[in-house]
Amino acid sequence: MPVSKHGYHARDMSDDPQNDPAINSVEDYHQRSKHSLQKYARGPDTLDWNAQPDPFRSYAGTVRYKLPLSARQIATPYPDLFHPGRVEAAAITLESIAALFELSMGLSSWKVYGATRWALRNNPSSGNLHPTESYIVFPGDAALPAGVYHYHVYAHSLEHRCEPEDTESFKQTFADNSFLIGLSSIHWREAWKYGERAYRYCQHDVGHAIACFRYAAATLGWQVRLLDTCSDEHITGILGLYRTSDYTDVESEAPDAILQISCGNQDANTDNTKQAEVLSDMLASGHWHGCASRLSSHHFEHWNVIEEITQYCQKPVSPIENVLPESKPILSECSTQLDASFVIRKRRSAQSFDGSSIMPLFTLYRLLDCLLPRITVPPFDVLSWQPRVHLVVFIHRVDGLKPGLYALPRSEQGEILLRKNLREQFDWSRPAICPEWLPLHHLISAKSQKAARTLSCHQNIASDSALCISMLAEFENTIKDAPWRYRQLFWEAGMIGQSLYLEAEAANISGTGIGCFFDDAVHETLGINNTALQSIYSFTVGTAIRDTRLVSLPPYSHLEELRGS
Ligand SMILES: Cc1cc2nc3c(=O)[nH]c(=O)nc-3n(C[C@H](O)[C@H](O)[C@H](O)COP(=O)(O)O)c2cc1C
Repeated sequence: MPVSKHGYHARDMSDDPQNDPAINSVEDYHQRSKHSLQKYARGPDTLDWNAQPDPFRSYAGTVRYKLPLSARQIATPYPDLFHPGRVEAAAITLESIAALFELSMGLSSWKVYGATRWALRNNPSSGNLHPTESYIVFPGDAALPAGVYHYHVYAHSLEHRCEPEDTESFKQTFADNSFLIGLSSIHWREAWKYGERAYRYCQHDVGHAIACFRYAAATLGWQVRLLDTCSDEHITGILGLYRTSDYTDVESEAPDAILQISCGNQDANTDNTKQAEVLSDMLASGHWHGCASRLSSHHFEHWNVIEEITQYCQKPVSPIENVLPESKPILSECSTQLDASFVIRKRRSAQSFDGSSIMPLFTLYRLLDCLLPRITVPPFDVLSWQPRVHLVVFIHRVDGLKPGLYALPRSEQGEILLRKNLREQFDWSRPAICPEWLPLHHLISAKSQKAARTLSCHQNIASDSALCISMLAEFENTIKDAPWRYRQLFWEAGMIGQSLYLEAEAANISGTGIGCFFDDAVHETLGINNTALQSIYSFTVGTAIRDTRLVSLPPYSHLEELRGS
């Protein structure tokens, strides 16, 4: 493969998809990272606790800008997030940027159990390992000079990684009242525990992080767009991830995504490739500071397949997708009176459910309605593509719905695929009471708790809840055209997960993402016997039982000591 500026491989496009090494590599990785009833995907035999990765990366040698703890002051009601125009846009200041980071990637609490203490965050993460790092690329103002900054989660501070040489030209590359957020992943953090399947979990976490930024921005009345045309090489250039001297002998970061955040309207059809290219070039001659911290003292195990799939899933520059919006009525009102900032900060993964509470029908319909893309409603307004992830819902306990399996295709194309590939015996009838625009279909009546638990690696959280969701991705069609979109399937699933987490919190119930499931057993249950659709994530929602053995401590009491104030 030809190699470009930052060591990026231009994709070797072949006319024959069967001989395309990138497509083959994605197919191989997907197959070998499946868990099955007979055996789990390859991972470490035992956990090497001495090599447990540090959850907080820092860049020594950078100037740090301390962020205020401003999230609590945001009084935006949660229901207003979903109604464009109801939230007046906040000015872009250090306080509002601080709130954006706190409500997306910031800490939510510390948990203590015996002698063990660990931090939890507003964004969830498989195994609480947090592979996602975040950056801001800022045009500059009186409080925060121009440049690239890494968000140091523990210190709630921005580390100034790069100052552009020519700040005026740098500023001019940004649209009015906007800045960029960059995301990257340290795959090692997940691989340490989960081995080969870890790459998938990192991608889920990116999806959760994108949705977290979207919801946090919505509390401030801001718009967010994923810049989907620019390449990984651009992202690497902008965030400085190619600078080997800053990552000597430490875990590398893989580029994920760039989000444009605007205080004001955004044009969804602008191609930002030029901006990304100019920024990447400009920052190459900027003044870079700092060296990344090492996360584990040693790595005895190497998961080469993760490096391989990372190479083959590198995103090239891609054309803008012109998605025709489907017309749907506005989202049904949410009944909570809570502030969005409170809902976001109280989000927790349930570790067990009560096995008895019944979910009201209107709660289910609101949960599902939120997952349909609407062009001006968070979080799916961030994406510029038609939905490629659809749902099968195992209904255990919902008032007024027969227990069993139900399908929620998230697009017309999705419904065609599901009807074609799911079990022939499924009846595809509409529930007697269901909003006309909600494409929910009854497939089969059955007591589905036991099946949900078995399919979810025998986890009780899948059966003791009110419902459990399997997310089915349009796998074959997606990777045949663009193998790197494999990652985006998981991002979309992660965004669905984040939406479910927050909606559950708003309804005073709880959710949990389920990355551990037996892939092909899910397919068999649903009658899927090819790779047109593949199960990529599961999610469970119900009434949680809190673990009273854990003590909760506030998220930022360490800051006073750290900042010496
Ligand atoms: C992609 C993903 C997969 C997850 N898979 C599971 C799972 O299989 N079982 C489980 O009990 N929790 C699972 N979780 C929940 C995480 O363990 C949880 O997010 C993490 O411990 C942090 O806790 P918090 O969500 O309360 O912040 C998953 C979370 C994510 C984001």
